[in-house]
Amino acid sequence: MTIRAMKTSDIEPLHRLYSRLAARIPNHPKVSLEQFATELKGFGTGRMEQRTAGAPRRAFVAVRTGLPVAFASTAVCTEGFWELATGQGVLRFVFAPPGEQEACVELIRRATARIRADGGERPMACVYGSGPGFHNWACAMVPSAWPWIGHWLCMAGYAPAGSEIRMRRVLEKRPRPIALPKGSELRVATAPESDRVAEEFQHHRHLWIDGQEAAQCHNFYEERFVRGRGKRMSYTEWLGVNEAFRGRGLGRAMLRNAVCRAYDEGCRVVTLTTDGCNFRAQALYVSEGYAQTDTMWRFGWGEEG
Ligand SMILES: CC(C)(COP(=O)(O)OP(=O)(O)OC[C@H]1O[C@@H](n2cnc3c(N)ncnc32)[C@H](O)[C@@H]1OP(=O)(O)O)[C@@H](O)C(=O)NCCC(=O)NCCS
Repeated sequence: MTIRAMKTSDIEPLHRLYSRLAARIPNHPKVSLEQFATELKGFGTGRMEQRTAGAPRRAFVAVRTGLPVAFASTAVCTEGFWELATGQGVLRFVFAPPGEQEACVELIRRATARIRADGGERPMACVYGSGPGFHNWACAMVPSAWPWIGHWLCMAGYAPAGSEIRMRRVLEKRPRPIALPKGSELRVATAPESDRVAEEFQHHRHLWIDGQEAAQCHNFYEERFVRGRGKRMSYTEWLGVNEAFRGRGLGRAMLRNAVCRAYDEGCRVVTLTTDGCNFRAQALYVSEGYAQTDTMWRFGWGEEG
């Protein structure tokens, strides 16, 4: 077994391997070779690209009898986002089949050493938003269908640092929209960064009440963002109600109305992820007809996990 940098010729066998493993994950869309190559070679969804610009980004494979049997990619954040701080190292995406313990643990160790050599501090592994966006930004996290990867991360020195729950709702008919408060205004979100982000923001909505931003709901249902399923599947990434406005039905209204808009765009399945400890939000989602389909994990280094 050898460990080396990924080559372009590894992508096809890695795609076959990933497809076999992804088939175990509930409701994982089929990922085309082209999508896979884009994500493995760079950052197809743009987020990590922006936040790691100028820092080394690497992809490694463990090879046995000429074939890649394990994959890991790394980056160092030059701009903090989600739970990652500026300067923090990240083991972006790891996969290997069960049975490749020795290769995968060694690959994780070497990739982590590389992160440190590249200046990345307090490495985290498989963090939301850091890996591929095959159909949303939780795809880097370790799904419950791949428990061996979690075990091997722990053997290599990582510890679980939190979970995300994946939920979905099948839409048999258009739900009934909920009226927003009189005098409130629903606006398309303004992009904070570049035009590229502006395109991402087109289905995001912010609710303004008496000159204050009261709530927001960020949604995706373009082929580019919800990959593999096109417009038939939507993804709600962020629902939030400002503290002063909570408990008045705005969270439910923002979500329900976003689901109605997604339905009108042709979506028949709506999905989201939420922190495993966010029971308040989960109560809302369950009452809106969402059901949990998976639990996914992120990891931190050792005691800091
Ligand atoms: C989760 C959140 C969006 C809910 O928004 P909200 O406007 O306060 O919620 P609503 O008034 O619309 O309530 C909707 C449902 O949520 C659940 N809920 C909300 N607050 C609750 C509470 N204090 N206790 C129990 N359930 C609660 C209930 O199911 C409630 O329905 P009900 O009032 O008919 O029982 C809001 O609390 C929030 O922004 N939290 C912080 C950000 C966050 O966690 N976002 C979710 C990210 S995935």
